[in-house]
Amino acid sequence: MKLILRLIISLVLIVGLVALIFSYQQARQEEGRLKAELGKRADVIAESLKMLVEPPLTAGNTAFLQQIMDTFSNREKLEGVDVHDIAGNLVAISKGLSPQLDQDPHLLADNIAQVKLSGVGYGQIIGPYNKPVYVYSLPLITGHKITHVLSLFYNVDYIQERVHILWMNSFWRLLVQILLIAVAVCAIILLNVMRPIRQVTEWIRKVRKGEGAGELDARNEFLLGPLVSEIGKMAQSLEMARLSAEEEARLRHSGQSLWTPERLKEVVRLKLGDRPLFVVSNREPYMHNRNSKGKIECIVPASGLVTALEPVLNACGGTWIAQGSGDADREVVDQNDKIKVPPEEPKYTLRRVWIDKDIDEGFYSGFSNEGLWPLCHIAHTRPIFRAGDWEDYRAVNKKFAEILVEEMEGSPDPYVLIQDYHFALLAQMIKTRRPDARVALFWHIPWPNPESFGICPWYKDLLKGMLGADLLGFHTQFHCNNFIESVDRFLESRIDYEHFSVNREGHTTLVRPFPISISAGCVMPASNSSSHAPAIEDLLKPYNLQARWMGVGVDRLDYTKGILERLRAIENLMDKEPAFNGAFTFVELGAPSRTMIPKYKEFVDEIVQEAQRINARFKTKNWQPILLLMKHHSHADIAPFYKAAHVCLVTSLHDGMNLVAKEFISARDDEQGVLILSQFTGAARELRDALIVNPYDIGQMSQAIKEGLLMDNNEQAERMKRMRNIIKERNIYRWAGELVGQLTQVRL
Ligand code: G6P
Repeated sequence: MKLILRLIISLVLIVGLVALIFSYQQARQEEGRLKAELGKRADVIAESLKMLVEPPLTAGNTAFLQQIMDTFSNREKLEGVDVHDIAGNLVAISKGLSPQLDQDPHLLADNIAQVKLSGVGYGQIIGPYNKPVYVYSLPLITGHKITHVLSLFYNVDYIQERVHILWMNSFWRLLVQILLIAVAVCAIILLNVMRPIRQVTEWIRKVRKGEGAGELDARNEFLLGPLVSEIGKMAQSLEMARLSAEEEARLRHSGQSLWTPERLKEVVRLKLGDRPLFVVSNREPYMHNRNSKGKIECIVPASGLVTALEPVLNACGGTWIAQGSGDADREVVDQNDKIKVPPEEPKYTLRRVWIDKDIDEGFYSGFSNEGLWPLCHIAHTRPIFRAGDWEDYRAVNKKFAEILVEEMEGSPDPYVLIQDYHFALLAQMIKTRRPDARVALFWHIPWPNPESFGICPWYKDLLKGMLGADLLGFHTQFHCNNFIESVDRFLESRIDYEHFSVNREGHTTLVRPFPISISAGCVMPASNSSSHAPAIEDLLKPYNLQARWMGVGVDRLDYTKGILERLRAIENLMDKEPAFNGAFTFVELGAPSRTMIPKYKEFVDEIVQEAQRINARFKTKNWQPILLLMKHHSHADIAPFYKAAHVCLVTSLHDGMNLVAKEFISARDDEQGVLILSQFTGAARELRDALIVNPYDIGQMSQAIKEGLLMDNNEQAERMKRMRNIIKERNIYRWAGELVGQLTQVRL
């Protein structure tokens, strides 16, 4: 209340002061205007009197002169007239004008002097007569010489009165206005500021006490702006920290140990000390793009690598070096091409690297995604190898090496975590320049058998480049075995099968499986989580659809994901099981990916055509078996579908790990829902409680969907519970902790 009072008083004083200055100026202007008007009138009258007065004055006819002056002085507002000689002696004065003029020869001295000097009329207010009067004097000429001065005395009381009235009017008007403003301000503050502040305070109190405050009213955010959104985020961090502290306490109590962001931070601090951590990947964790309205938007790209690594950097800090690929990326970085991220709560530095478009074509679209990607994924798409692409690939690896060396300058014994198949040559380039750096390369995609790998014309260069790393990580032991076999087959080296390491030209590389994972809150932050699943009806309503059962698929639109096979399995289900006709809808949340590559463009067209063909066969007025939602989806868009779906379909033809499977499980805190998972994903080795399928077997997949939809709730819960425990335990913090832990043990 004190605050409001202070606000109102300050407001009243400021508005009052401004209004006073304003009315003072108004009064002064009015006074000036009236005086000027009086001056003009006096001049006209004086000129006409002059013509009457001059003849009797020249003739020395004082009686006639007196008569003229008495008659004239009866005019409105005129007090009287007089005539002085040039020496200041009174010659004639109208009746009723104060005799003070007789006694005080100095009273008109200034007027007489001015008139003598200029030869024209002059007027001013003078006193002390018995009251202030306006005196206008005019020269009288006899015999071509100024011999006398005629003066007219005007009453100026009316000017004072007019100015006074103006002041009073302004004062009352102001008083009323200020009172109205004060009342309005009071009401606005009470309604729009005090009430939201009270609500937010109450909300914070509940959060602090852990009373489950729920969502903050969006109207408060509208009124109090960024403050409320910041408070919301702070409360969210608090909630997450409390949950993780509770979890740690619970695990300590039961003798278990779980990897949490805090534990990872602690381990990294202990093991790395002051040595900085650098992460390198092609895909950046945040992209800045201009939307259709020209505003810059920040998005998290659809990438398993980003999903996994982002929580690690958030926990440990460090520098993430990646290619700048958003169309507004350059506009938001500093002069060193850096930006602090995440945007809402910066925790680490993103250093963007700019690659020329033509080189990027050969590096990214060409060698990385038309060559290595199909080479490592056995999805029966032929890899394309072009010598020019290989040159670009080497050039980009070299450019990243230069930038990394530049970033590491002045930091002894740095730790470098290189990510993925875009940088097979980088580790060796770094180690040549900085032998003190500990370098790990994590390969996020599968590694094929030596026969398949050997078709790449530059297989030896790739292997040599990779063996530059001190530690080489794959998702599964099977991929490690394939790699070791490839080295054994193609390079001169010493392989130690006991320690799973390769020694080549005196340098040792450890080869280890590190099954990648997610953080528990990555799909849904802790403060938003609720076991209440959104209704399928609400999710399908915007598309005018209704269904009793819903399935979900979340993918980059990539030919390795088995999306066509999935659609055909749904068609098969509709053909074989009429009970699902009109009752089961599968929603595909597909993010367009690598669209500049012809194979990917064709693939998207194929998906659309296949979905249309199948829908055309079965659809009814308010139902269809397949709903394709093809755009970039944020975690917030995806989460409700994960939570509501009866089944989640992950049917990759080949996949390093596949984090969608893990995200679905993480989102299901209601312990319901069934995961249908391809046997060719890395995830299938950990998540044995999923319904494991061969995506090439359409009948088996359709059978699994049916089984999933009809699975008894208890069995769903048992399976889900076991898988949730696995994900909780083998989370991304454990992945990073073990990777960094291994790297510290490497003997350089
Ligand atoms: C896979 C790769 C990542 C890549 C992601 C998205 O998960 O292992 O390195 O970032 O796909 O692909 P994109 O080409 O869009 O980066």
